[in-house]
Amino acid sequence: VHKQLKYYLMAPGPTPVLTQALSKMSEPLIHHRTPLFEEVMASVREGLKYLFQTEQEVLILSCSGTGSMEGAVSNFMCRGDKAICVRGGKFGERWSEICTVYGVEPLNIDVQWGEAVDPAIIADMLQKDSSIKGVFIQASETSTAVAHPIKEIAEIVKKYDDTIFVVDGISAVGVFPLPMDEWGIDILLTGSQKSLMLPPGLAFAAVSEKAWKFYEKSDLPKYYFDLGKQLKKQNENQSTFTPAVTLVIGLKEVLDHIRAEGLDNIFERHDRLARATREAVKAMGLELLAKNSPSSAVTAIKSPEGINGGDVVKLLRNKHNITIAGGQAQLKGKIFRIAHLGYVDIYDVIIGISALEMALSELGYKFQLGKGVAAALEIFNNDLKA
Ligand SMILES: Cc1ncc(COP(=O)(O)O)c(C=O)c1O
Repeated sequence: VHKQLKYYLMAPGPTPVLTQALSKMSEPLIHHRTPLFEEVMASVREGLKYLFQTEQEVLILSCSGTGSMEGAVSNFMCRGDKAICVRGGKFGERWSEICTVYGVEPLNIDVQWGEAVDPAIIADMLQKDSSIKGVFIQASETSTAVAHPIKEIAEIVKKYDDTIFVVDGISAVGVFPLPMDEWGIDILLTGSQKSLMLPPGLAFAAVSEKAWKFYEKSDLPKYYFDLGKQLKKQNENQSTFTPAVTLVIGLKEVLDHIRAEGLDNIFERHDRLARATREAVKAMGLELLAKNSPSSAVTAIKSPEGINGGDVVKLLRNKHNITIAGGQAQLKGKIFRIAHLGYVDIYDVIIGISALEMALSELGYKFQLGKGVAAALEIFNNDLKA
């Protein structure tokens, strides 16, 4: 089989790494208990506050995103507490699983995969039971490509002094607006391998003053992910344990780059790429999984009749040297997902759509070749003229 020369990473994490970060990370390693590293830490602490739109410290953890999710439960909840978990996909299920492991009782809101949660359900549950300590959700549920209404839910949870709002923004921070302080999000998480354009290995947690009060009371076991200890160390530009030095150095490059592009431009770029991707697949006669509230990070497309979504992913991998993502759990074989977050711009989307057209055509799907690309170009052309 002919294989393309070039490799393209178009999955919703890991995503392509910023070139400047790659080259910085290949320099000889430095030690972390040094003024040089402390300078880097001082810079990334400021950059993270800008990214998270917060005055709070953004904690840097050496782990994948799930580590920060675990820390968000173990540091702020108590044994026997009740917590609402919005289960609209695989990552929503993860909240519920982590709560259960720690002896926190999950009150699950099961949302049909592909749909966003109705905030009124959360308002109703909190009104009926004010002992609920937390509301756990994804801003962007990567498995279904849905964005939940975070601003509206924050408005609701804010009214309850004994409830915190915990948002997994792992595929959302740096993609679309989630101004933590302005909206009143109590804990906001992300990971390095998504919009941060870095390899996997770092996770981040920003914590509100309200949530730190919950930390003081929390009786759940924690050691590696003791966020209070990390906060103290970070205030000295240090880290509780050996940090992922190389990734933190890459992070400085990324955050400098993010500041230079500007958050508003970053949000606008992701919105543009997402709109173009959606219009392209619709023009090809395909259907989106997320109809009402699609995420700007990734687009989930229903596999056409008679074609297994997994085969689209495999063909693109084996013949075209392109990684996209398939469906997870109950969506396995039924969808495929093309990501457009991080170090990605308009011509990357054109490549992704062209590849999809090639693969679907080879798998026997009937449509007019070039339709998707034309629709995406139309969007870019109009946007860039405006
Ligand atoms: C929304 C969301 N939450 C959590 C995770 C889990 O992160 P990790 O695989 O880095 O542990 C992911 C990763 O894809 C994600 O997209």
